Amino acid sequence: MYIRIIIKIIFCRFRSVNNGSGYRKGKTMSKIIAVTSGKGGTGKSTVCAGLGYTLAKQGHRTLLIELDFGLRCLDIMFGLESDIKYDLGDVLSGRKSALDAVCQTPMANNLSVLCAPKTLTSVTAEQIVDICRSVKKYFEYIIIDTGAGISSHVFDIVEQANLILVVSTPDPVCMRDAGLMSDEFYNRGNKSQRLIINKISKKVIGEALVSNLDEIIDKVGVQLIGVIPDDFKMTVATGKGNPIPTDSAALKAFDAISKRLGGEFVPLTVKTA
Ligand SMILES: Nc1ncnc2c1ncn2[C@@H]1O[C@H](COP(=O)(O)OP(=O)(O)OP(=O)(O)O)[C@@H](O)[C@H]1O
Ligand SMILES: [Mg+2]
Repeated sequence: MYIRIIIKIIFCRFRSVNNGSGYRKGKTMSKIIAVTSGKGGTGKSTVCAGLGYTLAKQGHRTLLIELDFGLRCLDIMFGLESDIKYDLGDVLSGRKSALDAVCQTPMANNLSVLCAPKTLTSVTAEQIVDICRSVKKYFEYIIIDTGAGISSHVFDIVEQANLILVVSTPDPVCMRDAGLMSDEFYNRGNKSQRLIINKISKKVIGEALVSNLDEIIDKVGVQLIGVIPDDFKMTVATGKGNPIPTDSAALKAFDAISKRLGGEFVPLTVKTA
């Protein structure tokens, strides 16, 4: 029994090293996930927040990096509006290191965010890649919210990710644009892509926009990793900076996707309102 405990303590010490800023160096390098879409407003930031929250609750040290320069929202979603001392702008200007600018969320111990600056700031793909490199040792997952609008640097940044999550709603324009984006990533050599279908409801499936989920998957042309229902409870929670309630259907979907990201098999169940 005692030997077991001692081995456990030695193992824990080997796995993590405190760097003085409160963040422990892990043994493994993080997985970088870029969350993107063709059209704006598909739910990229919501997906980042939901996945970050559930991954952290599952015990994974997770960092969200927000690239929505001038239009940040993760601070509001996590109720951190008045707690953000530094942001990506401070890191890009060299005033702060990335680790110093990271803000831990009170909602989940393992979840930290690096918010976009409130002003428009120019950035290069190399700078973002350097930032990811500098914090890679401290997080198991780095999730990048690519923000609204597509520019060439977004393609360059997304190319560096280990996995691209393409977010689409059942809206025809959204599906077409998601497909075009995915083709571009594919042509640039990034074949590791998965589709998240967001804002699914009974109203749009079967009657109004698409006949079934397969139609969306075929139109976008990317393998599915999860389906998020249109969930008003989540909209209210993220709008008020509260944790997503445990009875939220969207939270259950995020939890399942987070497990799938770790290689776990979780059957797909789609609960629509
Ligand atoms: N599954 C969902 N159920 C209900 N509301 C949702 C869902 N996903 C996103 N929303 C709502 O849709 C709106 C847009 O979401 P969000 O800001 O995450 O999109 P975005 O893709 O990040 O937008 P942008 O392109 O402007 O960055 C928000 O009001 C959000 O609360
Ligand atoms: Mg956004």
